[in-house]
Amino acid sequence: MKASSSSYQLLPPDEIHKEWKLIRENYESALMREYTSDEYLRPKQNINFLSDYRDLQLELARLLVGWIPNIPWLKLKMDLGRQAYLMIQIIEIFELRLRELPGSKKQIGANERFKSLQKILAKALNIEDFLIGVFKVVQINFFQRLEDHLKECDPIADLPTIDRIETVLSILKKQIEWVDIWVSSYTVQNPEGASLRKDYIQNVFESLGGFHSNQVKQLPLSPYQDNKLQDAGIEPAQLEQGFSIVEEFKFIAPRITHGKLSDLLYQNFAEMFVPDSLGYMVFDMDGMPYEFYRDFIKQLWDECRHIAMGMRELEKLGIPLNTLPLNEVKREKPYTWYLARLCYTGEGCSFPRKLSAADAFFRLGFPSAATITEYDIADESHHVKYIERWLPLLHQKEECKESLAEIIEEVQRQSLSWVKNKSKLDVKNVKGKFGAFCKAIDFDIDFTAV
Ligand SMILES: [Fe+2]
Ligand SMILES: [Fe+2]
Repeated sequence: MKASSSSYQLLPPDEIHKEWKLIRENYESALMREYTSDEYLRPKQNINFLSDYRDLQLELARLLVGWIPNIPWLKLKMDLGRQAYLMIQIIEIFELRLRELPGSKKQIGANERFKSLQKILAKALNIEDFLIGVFKVVQINFFQRLEDHLKECDPIADLPTIDRIETVLSILKKQIEWVDIWVSSYTVQNPEGASLRKDYIQNVFESLGGFHSNQVKQLPLSPYQDNKLQDAGIEPAQLEQGFSIVEEFKFIAPRITHGKLSDLLYQNFAEMFVPDSLGYMVFDMDGMPYEFYRDFIKQLWDECRHIAMGMRELEKLGIPLNTLPLNEVKREKPYTWYLARLCYTGEGCSFPRKLSAADAFFRLGFPSAATITEYDIADESHHVKYIERWLPLLHQKEECKESLAEIIEEVQRQSLSWVKNKSKLDVKNVKGKFGAFCKAIDFDIDFTAV
């Protein structure tokens, strides 16, 4: 039956949308009312828990990369990059669920209790104690909390949260197994030290309210002498014995790969300076948006993979890694200058060279070297985007007295003067011509020789 047009007036679509918005706002505030359910978590309670999990993982991820400079062993440096990346993945997994739940969400990383925890975890007698605090105490508490959380979810209504938690539990399980590689023999040799660390961090975690309370109690006294503790971000960044540390800039130092295609693999291997430098930056720079940390932790882990990729391919070619030059790394502050240099002289210029190299590796019968170079290009294209995205805000936060354009010009001028035999080129000749600038600073490579 047709509705009578005189008795029922249809609202135009934009009016309907306005009404819906009002209804939605009403419903969202109703869902946030102060009721409790003994049986299953309400959406509001889920939001609080998931937000806490997310905030904790962000503090831990920043802490892990802040400790990369403290670590001498290449393998563990790279592993920490990966573990920090996995913590960011956990945040992203819970974000998906939080977006589906009602009400306005807190900004990621605004949790002062977990910031305090991070500061305490950062100080440790040694690497093993540091890892025990983060993984054997905090991540294990997190694992146990998530197992409890699963039981608190309505199995039908809240199945999406169950799905997310199960995914996160599988990541945490791998993390907790991974850390044993690095701490199990220490724990056997030094059981008192390991349990002192565990008990202390457990007490700190509980005093800060853990996952169940925002109330902070009196923190336990530290059982350590403060002057014996390491803090994150040691300078210079540590590197295990047996590598060739040089004074001159590593990309102009003499090396067995110089002028050949394998120099591209050396450039991958020599990238540890990026995780060390980004580790300082991500740990030091407070108050940036979550996405800043997310992007640079991804970049940091990518560079760790590039190092491992370069190592594998160089070893296949029989090139000894310990003869290849590396530089000592310190904080490069302001970080605006560091990132501008990385983007506008290093990464941004590397694409033509890497594309030609991938092609040459395939033609000469080195498909795995070619393939890693293709993945390298894929990663690097994101790195330049991350840096372009964040440089203006970083520049503003660091209150640099030079404009961003002046900084970019100056880092290009500096890199021209570093490149041997090309110092006669002036930045004015290539100003505004990025391709010409990159050609001017590029490495000479014989694309027919490996
Ligand atoms: Fe790289
Ligand atoms: Fe990169």
